[in-house]
Amino acid sequence: MPFDVQQPQAYQHLTTRPISGGVGAEIEGVDLAQAEPQVMAEVHQALLQHGVIFFRDQDLRPEELIAAAKFFGPLNIHPIYLPLDGYPEIMPVVKEPTATMNIGNSWHSDVSFMEKPSLGSLLYALDVPPYGGDTIFASQRLAYEGLSNEMKSMLGDMRAVHSDRILSSAESKAKRNAGRSTKLDEKPTPEVQTTHPVIRTIPETGQKHLYVNEAFTIRFEGMTEPESKPLLDYLYEHGHKPEFTCRFQWRKGSVAFWDNRAVQHYAINDYQGFRREMWRVTVEGERPE
Ligand code: SIN
Repeated sequence: MPFDVQQPQAYQHLTTRPISGGVGAEIEGVDLAQAEPQVMAEVHQALLQHGVIFFRDQDLRPEELIAAAKFFGPLNIHPIYLPLDGYPEIMPVVKEPTATMNIGNSWHSDVSFMEKPSLGSLLYALDVPPYGGDTIFASQRLAYEGLSNEMKSMLGDMRAVHSDRILSSAESKAKRNAGRSTKLDEKPTPEVQTTHPVIRTIPETGQKHLYVNEAFTIRFEGMTEPESKPLLDYLYEHGHKPEFTCRFQWRKGSVAFWDNRAVQHYAINDYQGFRREMWRVTVEGERPE
C-alpha cells in the first residue's frame, strides 16, 4: 500500500506546520543530532507528504549532519564541487561578502544529470545574512497535476536528456569560480549526459511528478535542442507557478530537507555584501521510473 500524501498523518514524535498551501512544512520536536530510527521514520513520512521540510534551532557537528542524512540512504559525493576539508560528503555552500554570485540561482533538482539522481538534500545554515538569501521550492507533483490530460499523456511517453555541462565544461568552471565562493574542482571532467522520463513516479507514494529542470535538462530524447526548447520553456514556467511554491527564510541553525524527486529549488541572490554559509549533504536516490 503506497504512502498516501493527501491523507493527514498522525505523528507521534513530531508536529508539522505547513508553510504554504502547496508545499513545505516546518517540523517541531526533532533534534537531528539525537535522531532515533522511529523519529527519522516519521521525518521520512513528513518529507513524502510535504516535499520539503524545515527544522529550526539545530546545532550540528559535521558528523551529526552526516549521520542524520544517512538514515535515508548512502550519501552522494558531489562529482564536481569541492567538499568541506576532511568531510567528502559535505558540500559547503558559501557566499562571501565580496562574491557577487551564489550557487543554485536557477530552478533545479540536485544532480539530475546522474544516472541515479539524488533522493534528497539536507542544507544546514551556519551563517545567514541579516535579510535575503531565502530559498524557494516548487512542487513538481502539483506542476504535473496542473497539466491538461492531453499534455500529461503526451509527456508520459517522453524522455529528456540531462547534462552537467553548466558545471563540467572548462569554460564554465573558470567563469563560475571567478564570481563564486563555492568552488568547482577545475580538473577536467567529461560531460555527463543521462536520459530520464519527463514524468517520474515516486515509488513510496505512487505519485507522478514533472521531472525536467532549467539547470540540467537540455532537450527531449530524439529531438534537437531548438526543437525541444519551446516545450521545455513552457514546462519550466508552468513548474514554478506561485501556487506550487513556498519560500523559506533561513535563520542560523535552520535545516531544510527537500525531496529532489518531488520539488525543485532556487536560491535567491539578494544579499550583496553579506555572508551566507551552509553545509549540504545529498542522499543518493534510485533510477527514475
Ligand atoms: C542548492 O542549490 O543546493 C543551494 C540552495 C541554497 O543555497 O539555498
